[in-house]
Amino acid sequence: MTDAAIESTGGGEAPWWRRGVIYQIYPRSFQDTNGDGIGDLPGIVRRLDHLAWLGVDAVWISPFYPSPMADFGYDVTDHCAVDRAYGGIVDFDDIVREAHARGIRVIVDYIPNHTSHRHPWFLASRLSREAERRDWYVWRDPAPDGGPPNNWVSAFGGSAWTWDAHTRQYYLHTFLREQPDLNWRNPEVVDAMVQVLRFWLNRGADGVRVDAVQAVIKDEAMRDNPPNPAYVEGRDDPYERLLREHSTDQPGVHEVIARMREVVDGYPGERVLIGEIYNEVERVMAYYGQDGRGVHFPYNFQLIKLPWNARALEAAVTRYESLLPEGAWPNWVLGNHDRMRVASRVGPAQARVAAMLLLTLRGTPTVYYGDEIGMRNAVIPPDRVRDPWELNLPGRGLGRDPVRTPMQWSAEPNAGFSEAEPWLPLAEDWERVNVAAQADEPRSMLALHRALLALRRAEPALALGDWAPVPAAGDVFAYTRTHGQDRLLVALNLGATPASVEIVGTGRLLLSTALDRADEDVQGRLELRGGEGVVVRMEG
Ligand code: NOJ
Ligand code: CA
Repeated sequence: MTDAAIESTGGGEAPWWRRGVIYQIYPRSFQDTNGDGIGDLPGIVRRLDHLAWLGVDAVWISPFYPSPMADFGYDVTDHCAVDRAYGGIVDFDDIVREAHARGIRVIVDYIPNHTSHRHPWFLASRLSREAERRDWYVWRDPAPDGGPPNNWVSAFGGSAWTWDAHTRQYYLHTFLREQPDLNWRNPEVVDAMVQVLRFWLNRGADGVRVDAVQAVIKDEAMRDNPPNPAYVEGRDDPYERLLREHSTDQPGVHEVIARMREVVDGYPGERVLIGEIYNEVERVMAYYGQDGRGVHFPYNFQLIKLPWNARALEAAVTRYESLLPEGAWPNWVLGNHDRMRVASRVGPAQARVAAMLLLTLRGTPTVYYGDEIGMRNAVIPPDRVRDPWELNLPGRGLGRDPVRTPMQWSAEPNAGFSEAEPWLPLAEDWERVNVAAQADEPRSMLALHRALLALRRAEPALALGDWAPVPAAGDVFAYTRTHGQDRLLVALNLGATPASVEIVGTGRLLLSTALDRADEDVQGRLELRGGEGVVVRMEG
């Protein structure tokens, strides 16, 4: 990494991935440049100025590899290339160059657990039981009754095993049958996937987000998973019917991650390894690894799931902070391409409070594209559904299309996303909720994000300071961030009616989520309007 803008943001008191803010791009829906209704890599380049203006430090780009798109790019046929729909490898190089020139790092998705069923490795593996690549995937004989080898279920519905009539064995797929699981117990697979990691790091990627990493190692004996006693038929996602005791989060996974970490650490310039781990907080913590051999951070998805309630959030943040291993760095996320959008979950007013929460907690925040303008889940008519999860299990609210709709850039046709009909419909509010409209509006959600990002960049207490809760009641969640002599207080009103919190000493209000007050002196009782959050610099 020789680029001056990137160099100038390195070498501080903490690596960029601790100080910085990540922005997640779903490339299919960010910006189309060739009029096919599908976002592409040149579209990302076109919009880098928006991201630089917004003030993010890195982008994580969801998969853009060649793929039959059974799972929209999480089913890869070539890990070291770009799908034609998104451009070519030179377009990736352009992203790296142009992003770095703006001081923005680039994180790519790394998908080790599975490939597409059309990947040449799988085609070679399914040729025969004796095939050279047979053991690159997970093949097993049927159970004595001819059924699948065990009771494991696929994350997207149905058995996790598919029968291959030609070789008369089942293959394992944690996700779709079009996504066979690789066998990470095979050292050849490890080597091949290490080469993939090197490929992107060599091309200038600043890090990777590792997909479904807790699934890469399975129980050697492939024992049945036990039933989940909390599961309610009809109410819960069928994937929750069994506890994943033997299919994910096995001890051996940490050795695999240590290997990935070793590769990443072999590169200069603060490359980062981030793991996607959906699990209980205690289990998630194990992924920091022993002696810094794990991921730099495992994604912490709690804010996506927790009830929007001050006491619940306070308890969860306090607990998470207390469980972090020595020296481990936290992180927070409000949404992603798999989960409901935050503005739909908590409502547009509280989405502003959520933004202040995300961008003032201790730990690296990841902002999902469109959340900076308060994009909401779109309504997808049945004939426009694309997500295989929704197609397999319709009407249960599992589908992810509503959170993957085109970025709303302007009130121009197709929201400025494309000259053609987009691959997914636009959310219905696009003519009002878009970047162009909010850029002109001094108190918009976009302006709030920009102000929060600028404040976080300017205040080491927000980027790096210690976190401590402040006693508060009712709907108020309050905490301090302290760095040396600097102490900032954040007070968030999660309710719709006025509330207050007692503060000790005097302070100066720096920012309100309403963006209509600043530079006020505060002391004693700090009054908050309904749905208001504030950041205050404490004096003395
Ligand atoms: C997690 C990804 O975030 C999700 O979108 C995908 O479907 C699965 N992993 C399978 O790769
Ligand atoms: Ca396109």
